[in-house]
Amino acid sequence: MTVLAVLLALATAVSQSTGLALPAPAPAPAPQMVYGENSGPVAGVSPPIPTASGRTGSLRGSTNLLGANSPQPDLDTANSAIVPNPQSVNGQDANADLGLYLDFNSANPPQPNRGGRGGTDPGPRTYDYEKLNPDLYAPPGTDAGSTPQFMFNMGLAHNRAGVGNHSGWARQQNQDVLPVAKAMAGVDMRLEPNAYRELHWHTAAEWSLVLKGCTRVAALDTDGRTYIDDVCAGDVWFFPAGVPHSLQALEMGTEFLLVFDSGAFNEEATFLVTEMMLRNPVEVLSKDLKANTSAFDNLPKDQLYIFNGTPAPKNIAEQNLTGPAGARTGNESFTYHWSRQQPMEVEGGSVKIIDPLTFPIASNFSASQVVIHPGAMREIHWHTTSDEYAFFIQGSGRITVYVAPSASRTYDFTAGGVGYIPQGSSHYIENTGTEDLVYLEVLQASKFTDISVAQWLALTPRQVIKDHLHLPDELLDRLPTEKPYVVAGNKNLTAMAGGGQAY
Ligand SMILES: *[C@@H]1O[C@H](CO)[C@@H](O)[C@H](O)[C@H]1NC(C)=O
Ligand SMILES: *[C@@H]1O[C@H](CO)[C@@H](O)[C@H](O)[C@H]1NC(C)=O
Ligand SMILES: *[C@@H]1O[C@H](CO)[C@@H](O)[C@H](O)[C@H]1NC(C)=O
Ligand SMILES: *[C@@H]1O[C@H](CO)[C@@H](O)[C@H](O)[C@H]1NC(C)=O
Ligand SMILES: *[C@@H]1O[C@H](CO)[C@@H](O)[C@H](O)[C@H]1NC(C)=O
Ligand SMILES: *[C@@H]1O[C@H](CO)[C@@H](O)[C@H](O)[C@H]1NC(C)=O
Repeated sequence: MTVLAVLLALATAVSQSTGLALPAPAPAPAPQMVYGENSGPVAGVSPPIPTASGRTGSLRGSTNLLGANSPQPDLDTANSAIVPNPQSVNGQDANADLGLYLDFNSANPPQPNRGGRGGTDPGPRTYDYEKLNPDLYAPPGTDAGSTPQFMFNMGLAHNRAGVGNHSGWARQQNQDVLPVAKAMAGVDMRLEPNAYRELHWHTAAEWSLVLKGCTRVAALDTDGRTYIDDVCAGDVWFFPAGVPHSLQALEMGTEFLLVFDSGAFNEEATFLVTEMMLRNPVEVLSKDLKANTSAFDNLPKDQLYIFNGTPAPKNIAEQNLTGPAGARTGNESFTYHWSRQQPMEVEGGSVKIIDPLTFPIASNFSASQVVIHPGAMREIHWHTTSDEYAFFIQGSGRITVYVAPSASRTYDFTAGGVGYIPQGSSHYIENTGTEDLVYLEVLQASKFTDISVAQWLALTPRQVIKDHLHLPDELLDRLPTEKPYVVAGNKNLTAMAGGGQAY
């Protein structure tokens, strides 16, 4: 229970060093601080409550404490860094190269070792991070070398609140927090019922998956054509760079993920209709919109960003304006009702794809939504022409990213997690939880493609594979000539520790 154990050792006389002529008497030893384990809810470090009023003591110590001047510590009574009774979880003592998923939830506390490699951890530490990230804390033996950081979670992002009460919020991941993510950035945005994301535009193109509720989107293109639609959870919209758009939550509110085609995108730095009006001389506004200057007296004094609005009429036709240039329709639609697309069912889950073959306006966005059953795994694969932006919608899973020529690192993900996998780097996504894992893969590509390792090995001359990898015939006989996408697996991720199998 103790969050930070502060042992106030009573001042005991330092054994006088013999023969050492000190310029001044040795200072009394200071209270010893021992950093212990945090078992509080999250980061719950309770500082000691000060009991003294006023100041005592001084900020700096004496030069008598310099190594050459100070008496040696008494090693018999010094602070111990031995961790008593360290315990292992299922699979932790198995060979490190098996790399079994370690469920640290039952560990009190987790220890950072695997198959004997690593050690114990006397602290400082926060158990919750370690339980969420067992593959960082006790990495598989196969992880090697140095790789960029590939993981972020929206739970670590600053949340910007909207204007007024209960209008919504937004939080983002961009290169500031995940430098490797050069081609794409993401924003998780919440609009409370009837709230708006202020009319705006930006220099990046915007692709979005609705996560909850329904959103009314409207836009105007460069030819003066209009577009309006209602999109609900599982549906997608796309706005090209510079196209101004509005987003309004319908009566049940909404939340969506936005993916931009630039890693440097900053949600705090978009062009806003309020600011545009406020940043031009009123004389110019008057001329431009042919109105008395008094017409601008009630402009908001500041940007609105996210704010509460008048409920949108349920009948969308009431808000469907069309100018002489007409409306965007058919292949030029800015939305796709992806929620209505049935996925392809495969052995360990399901997959569905949206890319320019069916949603042409998003000409460089290709995505798949993957469902992975417990124990199952999105097979080892890579993308040939694009980095991958992965967003975790439900459940938990882990990814090992292999980086040429000889490095790899394994990360654990939970809902709200962002993974970023560079072009060409092989990776898998293994469900490490007890519910279906649902995640999104987004590529900057005109078609969703990948290379399946299992299919590649199956469709390469057998002698070539055997000369390289020395794999047995029984394995080669069973390789799939069609991409599995998601392979089924044993729900018990540590079964191998007891002689069971993974698949
Ligand atoms: C906003 O919420 C706070 C806290 O609930 C409340 O005190 C305040 O009156 C609310 N303001 C408005 C304008 O509703
Ligand atoms: C809006 O109007 C255009 C032009 O009449 C039409 O093609 C389009 O389907 C309408 N949109 C909706 C959502 O009703
Ligand atoms: C514009 O303002 C002038 C004087 O301020 C007023 O006489 C006139 O009626 C106004 N015009 C309109 C269209 O409001
Ligand atoms: C839409 O685009 C697809 C792919 O480019 C094409 O096959 C299809 O004919 C187009 N449909 C219409 C209505 O233009
Ligand atoms: C698609 O995105 C990639 C990565 O940002 C970029 O290199 C490529 O030029 C883009 N292709 C098109 C057709 O815009
Ligand atoms: C998983 O397998 C291991 C090794 O055989 C066994 O010790 C453990 O109890 C199993 N876990 C479950 C939940 O069945």
